[in-house]
Amino acid sequence: MIVAIDGFAATGKSTSAKLIAHELGFTYLDTGAMYRCVTLSFLNNDINLENKLSLIALLEKTEIEFKNRRNENLVFLNGENVSADIRKTEVTSYVSKVSSISEVRNFLVKSQREIAKNYDCVIEGRDIGTVVFPNAEVKFFLVADSQIRAERRHLELLELKEKKSIKTLMEEIQKRDSLDSNRENSPLQKAKDAIEVDTTKMTINSQVEFMVNKVKLITIGK
Ligand code: DC
Repeated sequence: MIVAIDGFAATGKSTSAKLIAHELGFTYLDTGAMYRCVTLSFLNNDINLENKLSLIALLEKTEIEFKNRRNENLVFLNGENVSADIRKTEVTSYVSKVSSISEVRNFLVKSQREIAKNYDCVIEGRDIGTVVFPNAEVKFFLVADSQIRAERRHLELLELKEKKSIKTLMEEIQKRDSLDSNRENSPLQKAKDAIEVDTTKMTINSQVEFMVNKVKLITIGK
């Protein structure tokens, strides 16, 4: 069974997806982390995005693994723990560009389907309910006011010892939303059958409770 969670940046997708997966006993898959890993790899290897041959050659050598250690979800890129590096500004400001490349999307969508084949999963991203798993049993689409989203990102960055003003973060978030929503390939869109959740005034606990209850109601009804 697949629970798809799509939505704009910093709407609480990751935090709620992790907790919902835990409550339901499902596997959690963060597809944004996969796009971030590829972005980091392109940056580290100085890949010119116009050069499709070198880009494909590097993709073929890219191995992304998720591991859970002491209740922490860690991401490994070719055996190296990159969980903190993929959240840094350099990656964040480049990831929308990398994720608009069809070779990158085809490569990652294939591995997302492969990973989810054998498990019940909560999967978060931008195109999960529309493209990767259009038949997902339950779909959510998260939205929130951009001021609140910038404040949330501000706190996250402080944990990484990065400091940015709320105004700058708001501009960055809006730019990323626009790039993600207007790209040609699998743009961020609400699936017709997704449940929209506005998290602006919700605490993480109420968000999770609402979504878990919806999953239970929908699956009992099936
Ligand atoms: O959720 P996030 O901020 O970690 O995602 C990083 C970027 O990856 C986001 O700006 C767009 C891209 N992405 C995507 O195109 N498709 C997905 N399924 C997940 C993320």
